[in-house]
Amino acid sequence: MPTDAVTMDKIVSLCKRRGFIFPASEIYGGIANTYDYGHYGVLLKQNVIAQWWKAMIQERDDVVALDSAIIQHPRTWEASGHLAGFTDPLVDCRTCKKRFRADHLGELECGKRPSKHPGEDAQCDLTESREFNLMFETTIGPVKEAGATVYLRPETAQGIFLDFKQVLQFARRKPPFGIAQVGKSFRNEITPGNFIFRTLEFEQMEMEFFVPPAEAEDWYRHWMQERLDWYVRLGIDPEHLRLRAHDADELSHYSTGTSDIEYLFPYGWSELEGIANRGDFDLSAHAAMAGEKLEYRDPQGGEAYIPHVIEPAAGVGRSMLAFMIDAYAEDEIGGEQRTVLRLHPALAPVKVAVLPLLRKDGHPEKARAVYEQVRRTMNAEYDDGGAIGRRYRRQDEIGTPFAVTIDHQTLEDDTVTLRDRDTLAQERVAVDGLARLLQDKLAVD
Ligand code: GAP
Repeated sequence: MPTDAVTMDKIVSLCKRRGFIFPASEIYGGIANTYDYGHYGVLLKQNVIAQWWKAMIQERDDVVALDSAIIQHPRTWEASGHLAGFTDPLVDCRTCKKRFRADHLGELECGKRPSKHPGEDAQCDLTESREFNLMFETTIGPVKEAGATVYLRPETAQGIFLDFKQVLQFARRKPPFGIAQVGKSFRNEITPGNFIFRTLEFEQMEMEFFVPPAEAEDWYRHWMQERLDWYVRLGIDPEHLRLRAHDADELSHYSTGTSDIEYLFPYGWSELEGIANRGDFDLSAHAAMAGEKLEYRDPQGGEAYIPHVIEPAAGVGRSMLAFMIDAYAEDEIGGEQRTVLRLHPALAPVKVAVLPLLRKDGHPEKARAVYEQVRRTMNAEYDDGGAIGRRYRRQDEIGTPFAVTIDHQTLEDDTVTLRDRDTLAQERVAVDGLARLLQDKLAVD
């Protein structure tokens, strides 16, 4: 259970220790809610994204890919409602000079008395709440005053709506069909973020699925199930996932219905991904603002309509966090404690470690040859530093499903020991055909 074995402290410390994820700008003391991804973090992140593309594109015929710009025409955000409505209510404390989300005061700590909430202590002096827009502003042009104010996108979705007409033409698709995109989004979040759960910049995996209006409800249900299944297929315990429909007062300005896929993080149930029924809000709003028709005309009947949109919107960082938390385990081998990430093989940053038992007697040379063989088809790591037990433990901690050990017998009969991360079973297998064997073992779905 993530709530028992794992704490956020353990995950944060593992991420830092093994270089998955660590605070950005650390030499300057860090910067709020901003993290850098190191070697294993990058590999895990790429694997999460690859699995999302696989589910969206490779396994379907009705979704196409897009990579739109981060900075779009500023009227985009007027039409989408983000300029007017993408805000959080904030209060400042005149005593401690800290800023708080007015609607989260009960969960936050007073700047001077962390045992109390802001406003609880007699010394607290909070301002009236005011709306604070979450979009980051910048300027195009060399002179700030003369330049045009533009915004870093707070969601990737709007780029998809702007390109709807183009994609309709070149992709030769008709509703129901989707446009998928993965990319960075930016939000000026001021609430402390629970590690990478809430950050200022983050990657989103979003898909806008355009449907005939009468089919919207069915597709909404379809995408809720599809997305829930995706997390389970990639190893998350179904008991740690739930769907929660938004109450009317929680709905975003564009949505007629939203359900969150929530995950049981160590600090409680929280949103992993949102599935929204956006109706025709966005296409209608951009059509009106740009004076363009953003509709689909049936070539047979000739009837034109504005498609409705079902949107599954996931966060890469949040998914990674959930995959790591769910995979985290501590157990004991031969009286020694180990930490293991039981990641799904498709997500594991390294698929196999190749380890010479000794740093002499021809073991390293043979191990390097085996390593060269397997790395052609999968991400592998060669490690000859330290006792074999420690090397196994290092690989367990980063979630490597298999370890191959080269020993004196290898030099006699060309076999190696294959160790399974989860069962700890060790079998003797031939070097000849090892890469194929590993591929078969890794190809679980
Ligand atoms: N286009 C719809 C949209 O952006 P959202 O619920 O605001 O909806 C979708 O965001 C997903 O993006 C969230 O479920 C979460 O996984 C991720 N996300 C949103 N804000 C985030 C932040 N500040 N840091 C990390 N991930 C975030």
